[in-house]
Amino acid sequence: MEVTRLSAETAGLDEVDGVALAAFEHPQFSIREELSRPWTRCWMVRRGGEALAFLIAWHVADEVHVLNVATAPAARRQGCARALMTEVLAYAREHQVRILLLEVRRSNVPAIGLYRGLGFHTLSVRKGYYSDNGEDAVEMILALDPATGAMLPGRDEVSIA
Ligand SMILES: CC(C)(COP(=O)(O)OP(=O)(O)OC[C@H]1O[C@@H](n2cnc3c(N)ncnc32)[C@H](O)[C@@H]1OP(=O)(O)O)[C@@H](O)C(=O)NCCC(=O)NCCS
Repeated sequence: MEVTRLSAETAGLDEVDGVALAAFEHPQFSIREELSRPWTRCWMVRRGGEALAFLIAWHVADEVHVLNVATAPAARRQGCARALMTEVLAYAREHQVRILLLEVRRSNVPAIGLYRGLGFHTLSVRKGYYSDNGEDAVEMILALDPATGAMLPGRDEVSIA
């Protein structure tokens, strides 16, 4: 498995949109459009040349906002998303980032499991955040010491059980 950082010049960007199409019913972005923003950071996972997963984040000031992470259905539970999140965490440490943030659908047990496993905690619940089905979003956070990159201790601010 190989994790690579994407730029607008990376070959095979269409494959990332292919993974998004396979992973989401209605992907609401295109990777080329995302990469046109100076603050966007993207990575993808390939195995044997085939695109399996991708992650899109925004780096603004000392915060990284993870917007999207997805793995093609046939490649799930093989560590692709964890590899991508580990990469974004390494990036954050390298760039003295203070917090990583993300929103996830309350019902998304796999994704919440992924984020919790990496040290994220719940910060708040945004009622009816997703316009397609009115589902709540759970905002999750992971704080780093920008000087050392060490993960700062946190706790769940809201229960989503
Ligand atoms: C969530 C998602 C990205 C996980 O990708 P993945 O590559 O299968 O995840 P990994 O194999 O790296 O799993 C890492 C950890 O996440 C958790 N996890 C992943 N899938 C899970 C599942 N189906 N049920 C419970 N926990 C799960 C586990 O803790 C897992 O660790 P483990 O396998 O050692 O138990 C994938 O299911 C997906 O693409 N879903 C659709 C898109 C989406 O919802 N993205 C997130 C919101 S933006």
